[in-house]
Amino acid sequence: MTDTNRVALAFSGGLDTTVCVPLLEEEYGYDEVIGVTVDVGQPESEFAEAAETAAALGLEHYVVDAREAFAELCFQSVTANATYQGYPLGTALARPVIASAILDVALEHDCNALAHGCTGKGNDQLRFETVWRGSSLEVIAPIRELGLTREWELEYAEEHDLPVEGGSGGRYSVDTNLWSRAVEGSELEDPATIPDDHIYKWTTSPSGKEAEFVTVTFEDGYPVALDGEEVDPVSLIETLNEQAGAHGVGRTDVMEDRMLGLKVRENYEHPAATVLLTAHEALEGLVLTAEERQFKAQVDQQWAQKAYEGLVDSPLVAALDGFIAETQKRVTGNVTVKLEGGHCRPVARESPHAAYSESAASFDNADVTESITQADATGVAKYHGFQSRLANASFSDAEGDESIDEPDDESTTTTDPAEIAHD
Ligand code: ARG
Repeated sequence: MTDTNRVALAFSGGLDTTVCVPLLEEEYGYDEVIGVTVDVGQPESEFAEAAETAAALGLEHYVVDAREAFAELCFQSVTANATYQGYPLGTALARPVIASAILDVALEHDCNALAHGCTGKGNDQLRFETVWRGSSLEVIAPIRELGLTREWELEYAEEHDLPVEGGSGGRYSVDTNLWSRAVEGSELEDPATIPDDHIYKWTTSPSGKEAEFVTVTFEDGYPVALDGEEVDPVSLIETLNEQAGAHGVGRTDVMEDRMLGLKVRENYEHPAATVLLTAHEALEGLVLTAEERQFKAQVDQQWAQKAYEGLVDSPLVAALDGFIAETQKRVTGNVTVKLEGGHCRPVARESPHAAYSESAASFDNADVTESITQADATGVAKYHGFQSRLANASFSDAEGDESIDEPDDESTTTTDPAEIAHD
């Protein structure tokens, strides 16, 4: 072991993480603070802000590009059709990626502690710490531990001549990465307030823009190409964010239940996530059996819950992934979605693994597959709902009206298929 007294801070250059720098020295007695900013697809301006603030603070600053690992996790979430209360989990999925990238830097630079600028009210403190507490490094949360408020921080920053700007989000708290842009705070805290259009940066208000189609190719449930052209995951997401965002696709306004029990009003933009989740689910609709879809919906829900909690590395998620991967072996094919007026809807799907028989389902053919005829359904129709009819009839027994027909095993009905009308 070394005798360094060095802490690695998750650093964005915003107010919270900026005040953390002197606090870690003054209040916690660290000799050295290093700042780490992890790139999960934030806008360029945020890196400029982080670098400028770090320079002004004299902070040793590292930037780690984790976009590929993050995009990979986003695609894994697509295989689980993952949303939490309507939100595709951009912030939640990014945190474990950011936390482990910071841990790597901390270990590389002989740090003995890790720090974040999260408050004690949100989800991110839990998501960071579950990763960090798996290491032997100490974990510090100055804002939470010292009970700091925004006003106190602003005053402290002024007294200490710290470089704090308004932040890129203005009066809002904004969290942006490849998968989603989250906006909260200010007048949006009143759930009865209709958000002004200026809160959106990725999506244009649906206007009369002409509809557009985009075809997504999936292999084993993972998106691999757009309109027939193979693209790497990061570019694929960026392209769809622009393309679908121009049609106003992927806006969500939700009352979100945080892990600690507080509700929060969040506004999200996530055009690419909406397109990919919509297309993926449409492809599953074609290739998975009815019982797989039904059971997988429960698995997916658990996956999303754990992802929201920042627990994508939990044994439960590994086990759920085992089931999901088995189902995704057939989730290969193309889905075309139509982008129009703020909506994205699947309009075509094809796969070599379709669990679908056109001839069986067709209204045009008299005969069906595997020598099954329409008449074969007669026996099933007689049994269908039999128990319900009996149960319901038990109430009318008082009137002595027992008119339930027992299914008759002997009955064999054959009818000329051509004579049967479709319903
Ligand atoms: N509520 C979301 C989550 O916990 C996003 C949090 C960050 N949002 C923000 N506007 N700063 O995943």
